[in-house]
This record gives sequence, C-alpha cells and structure tokens, in this order.
Amino acid sequence: MNEKIIVALDFPSKQVVESFINKFELGKDDSIAFVKLGMELFYAEGPEMIEYLKDKGLKVFLDLKVHDIPNTAAGAIRSLAKYGVDILNVHASGGIEMMRRANDALKSENASAKLIGVTQLTSTDEAMMNNELGIAGSVEDAVLRLASNCKAAGLDGIVSSPLEVPRIKAELGQEFLTVCPGVRLVTNSNDDQKRISTPEEAFANGCDYIVMGRAITQADDPASTFAKITNLIPS
Ligand code: C5P
Repeated sequence: MNEKIIVALDFPSKQVVESFINKFELGKDDSIAFVKLGMELFYAEGPEMIEYLKDKGLKVFLDLKVHDIPNTAAGAIRSLAKYGVDILNVHASGGIEMMRRANDALKSENASAKLIGVTQLTSTDEAMMNNELGIAGSVEDAVLRLASNCKAAGLDGIVSSPLEVPRIKAELGQEFLTVCPGVRLVTNSNDDQKRISTPEEAFANGCDYIVMGRAITQADDPASTFAKITNLIPS
C-alpha cells in the first residue's frame, strides 16, 4: 500500500531532501516508496535529483505541469522522458492536441511511463474558478470536462481532488488513473488547499494514488506519520 502514497518533496535543496529521506528505512513495507519531484526542487537541483531518488530505489513522479503550444510541450516532455521517471504531467487546459503530442513524445521514448493531465488545481474553489478564471459552473463539471479531454488525448489519467474521483471513474472507466493531492489528516491545517479529503476518504472514493506533502514533510516524526497513514488504508 505504501506505493499508493506519493510523498511530495517540496524542498529547496538536495541537502534538505537527504536529511528527510534519511529519516526512513527505505525498503520496509511501511516506508516511503514513491515520491513527487516538483518545480521547487527540480528548478533548484536539476535532473541530478532524479538520479539520486532512483538510486535510492524510489519511484518518481516528475510534477512539472508542462503547458505550452503543442510543439513546445511535446519537446519538453521528450526531453524529460529520457530521465526514466514513472509519471510525468501536463496541464489539461493546454488542450487535446497539446496533450496528444506530449503523450506520443513520451511513449516513443519511454513506453512504460505514464502521462497524466492536471485538471483544476486543488487550491481552486468554485468562487475563484467562476470569478477569477471566468469558467462558469461547478468545479466538478470543469474537472470532468478536462478529464474527458485527457482521455480523448490518450493520456493514462489525471490529477484531481479526491472529491471528483467517483464521477471520473464512473464516466471514464476504472482503469483511468486518478492521482490526488489535497489530502490532509484530520489534525492538519488546510494550508492553501481548498478541495480536501482525508486519506481514508480518498481511497474510499477510488483514488489510485494520493499525493501528500506538508502533512508528512512537516510532521514532527515523518517516518511514523507515514507508517500511520499506510495503516489507515485498507489493503
Ligand atoms: O503539502 P501538500 O500536501 O498540499 O502538497 C500537495 C502537492 O501536490 C504539492 O506539491 C502541489 O504542487 C501538488 N499539486 C496540487 N494540486 C494539483 C496538482 C499538484 O496540490 N492539482
């Protein structure tokens, strides 16, 4: 079950990552196995960070949320594909053509890597989406529309909040991957996240993977917090 919990390494440097990783006994069933490398760390340390994490035996989700014209997005994904990560992502709002070309570029370099589309960020609520972004209707409908575009483009799945997963699975199929941030323990603050669930609710809703950052990385004892979360989840 530990591979289903992807830990977001939102840290500023390799040094901080090393001291975090050293708190875990890697390889144990209740220790971390899958991590997310996002913009903060990748922009600070570069691709060397991927090698470091893979050498530790960890699976890597490279969360760079590529979003550009189709030719540039496909080129970016082709460049990233050579690092051998397990999951990469694009912004679904880049459109079907952008996603299709990015997916083709990825699969031609690394057939087993998954490409997923970010639907609406979990920091977005309905008022912000309607009033600032000018997208009418409910967040759930907007997420479903973007998720269907991801499927039409041939992507392996999406990023959404756990709240939208039951409809995504019902409408787009059980095998369409759902990777869900916005997960908090009942004792945590929500921080900047708006559409949140607990780990138990997220898996009950059908999430394939949950992404958890601060609830684990800022915990007094990250290793025991992670182990507790793995035990909360039915196998
Ligand atoms: O600390 P927290 O658990 O809120 O971290 C969530 C992680 O998931 C962050 O790294 C954030 O960039 C990422 N993420 C997100 N919402 C999305 C896509 C990614 O929160 N839609």
